[in-house]
Amino acid sequence: SSGGDATAPPADDSSALIVVGFSQVGAESDWRTANTQSMKDTFVEANGYKLIFDDAQQKQENQITAIRNFIQQEVDYIVLAPVTETGWDTVLQEAKDAGIPVIIVDRMIDVSDDSLYTAWVGSDFRKEGDKAAAWIVDNFKDKEVNIVHIQGTIGSSAQIGRTAGLEDAVAKNSNLKIIAQQSGEFTQAKGQEVMESVLKQNDKIDVVYCENDNEAFGVIDALEAAGKTYGKDGDIKIISFDATNAGLTDTLSGKINYNVECNPLHGPRVEKIIKQLEGGQTPDKKAYVDEAAFDANTITQADIDARAY
Ligand code: AHR
Repeated sequence: SSGGDATAPPADDSSALIVVGFSQVGAESDWRTANTQSMKDTFVEANGYKLIFDDAQQKQENQITAIRNFIQQEVDYIVLAPVTETGWDTVLQEAKDAGIPVIIVDRMIDVSDDSLYTAWVGSDFRKEGDKAAAWIVDNFKDKEVNIVHIQGTIGSSAQIGRTAGLEDAVAKNSNLKIIAQQSGEFTQAKGQEVMESVLKQNDKIDVVYCENDNEAFGVIDALEAAGKTYGKDGDIKIISFDATNAGLTDTLSGKINYNVECNPLHGPRVEKIIKQLEGGQTPDKKAYVDEAAFDANTITQADIDARAY
């Protein structure tokens, strides 16, 4: 005999845990770090979960490999924060064939068959872009506006929606002009690099539209180094997205003029979906998170204090 007491609970009853494989984009931004933390805080053993976390370093091929590993490990749920919208059909068909529900979080996917995922929760990136573009339209009225547009990861929903918001406003308002457009890959280093090269070629810049806070931090460093004035009291207005604690701190100090929230606290939202599925209910196929926006003229310290990440 094994000598064990058959009536005592096993020391490590991992079989009772719900196993969640989470394929994360990477660690490109403060937003992403907060998003990872939210998932790790939610999917803990004390809540009845075992989380298998994979960081794809911003590469879709790594995400596809991670999903295949999750299928092999026979996880109970696959959660995917997709780097780009397209290119998921094959691997998600494999997950479907294995009978593993797939929950998409944050950015969206563009698949030929919507039954390839069970549910999605994330941001309305187009709405975010529309808010930011409306700020430019409202604040400049009919004046000529030269805009430097630093995009996020090309092909991600966050880039597609925020870019569409700006480009739509430019198409409708003849005074708005995009004088430079390049990806800063949602990172501070690349945001700074792009801005440095743009400054060498352009004299008159009125707005820098950064598609996340980390790009804005890099842009601010480049503007400082070039001796430009910016923000609330300066010549160059700065728009940003995410509204992280650090981003809002720069908004309160007037470095960033307008910061549109993108909320990363998806852990409990994904858990709600899993609980519904466990209970035999059908979760909403798509759920958008409510998000705010912060103007340097009206933001308060309390807005920052309310933001842990
Ligand atoms: O998909 C959300 C975006 O991805 C955030 O705006 C950005 O900071 C992150 O990298």
